[in-house]
Amino acid sequence: MYEAFYGLRERPFELTPNPRFLLMTPRHREALTTLEYGLAGRTGIALLIGEAGTGKTTIVHAALQSQSAQQSRAVYLNNPSLTRTEFTEFLAAGFGLSADAAKSKTTCLAELTEMLAARHAAGMMAALIIDEAQCLSDMLLEEVRLLTNIESAAEKLLSIILAGQPELAVRLNHPSLRQLKQRIGLRCALSPLTLEETSAYIAARVQIAGGDARTLFTAEAIDTVHQRAGGIPRTISVICDNALVTGFALDTRPVDQQVVLEVCDDFEFAAGPGESSPDRAPGEEEPALLPTHTGPAESQIGVSAADCRPGAHTGLTT
Ligand SMILES: Nc1ncnc2c1ncn2[C@@H]1O[C@H](COP(=O)(O)OP(=O)(O)O)[C@@H](O)[C@H]1O
Ligand SMILES: [Mg+2]
Repeated sequence: MYEAFYGLRERPFELTPNPRFLLMTPRHREALTTLEYGLAGRTGIALLIGEAGTGKTTIVHAALQSQSAQQSRAVYLNNPSLTRTEFTEFLAAGFGLSADAAKSKTTCLAELTEMLAARHAAGMMAALIIDEAQCLSDMLLEEVRLLTNIESAAEKLLSIILAGQPELAVRLNHPSLRQLKQRIGLRCALSPLTLEETSAYIAARVQIAGGDARTLFTAEAIDTVHQRAGGIPRTISVICDNALVTGFALDTRPVDQQVVLEVCDDFEFAAGPGESSPDRAPGEEEPALLPTHTGPAESQIGVSAADCRPGAHTGLTT
């Protein structure tokens, strides 16, 4: 839509967790290395914690594209709001087990153990990656713990990666889950971007899309994007995409702070503490926030990451 106006080949702020756009902050790099190590090694459970929109799924996808994942049979579950029976069916389908295994947990575990031992003997790994793991019921967390018991005399046979929001870490501190917590061998966390990283994030995405961020956004516009997004990559992308749409509609290039403020007000991305607006006199009151915008990117706002809806999409990667 606006690509030609800004000299872009493609839209820089698509919300898919596409590793092609990945900006390696030190935390993202550490998380990727940790997950790759988890996929390659036999370390029990690897845990990745981060607020919604900080890049967990993107890092998981990047790890799945890595060398170590290519040599591993990796099964990816991205919405674990399943019953125990559905979980068994999922494991059987993901690891290519028999129809009987899909119907019986005992058969499933027996076949899985046999399959993993055979892979281990051939020097190959297998991994189960559960995204949105804060949605796992206590019952399924216990099933996950039981899976970590599949081991040879010397080694774990199945790598497990849990990626989830901070409430998962809180739940793991509960005494009833201490046995599971003890099985976590690797742990890393993603946090919001700093202002410099937000700038770099915008610049990198625009560059990958064929453009130059300096001709797209003023420095003040970027400061405001950072403040209103609280450094959360998904929100930064939502604001930037909508600001580009608005700038295009207004024939304004580069996008300035005023455009960003309008978009943020439409989306009700509130001002952070200490943010000053150039159009407001000191002491002047904040304007009332407008109702939620129904513009082009609204359906993409990342609220879904926070819900744990049963029956939502379940993905398989092998
Ligand atoms: N380091 C990063 N580099 C580039 N894009 C990122 C980065 N971190 C997050 N994003 C983008 O932010 C959005 C949300 O990321 P996602 O991985 O879905 O977050 P989460 O799974 O933590 O909710 C996606 O569009 C993703 O591409
Ligand atoms: Mg995610």
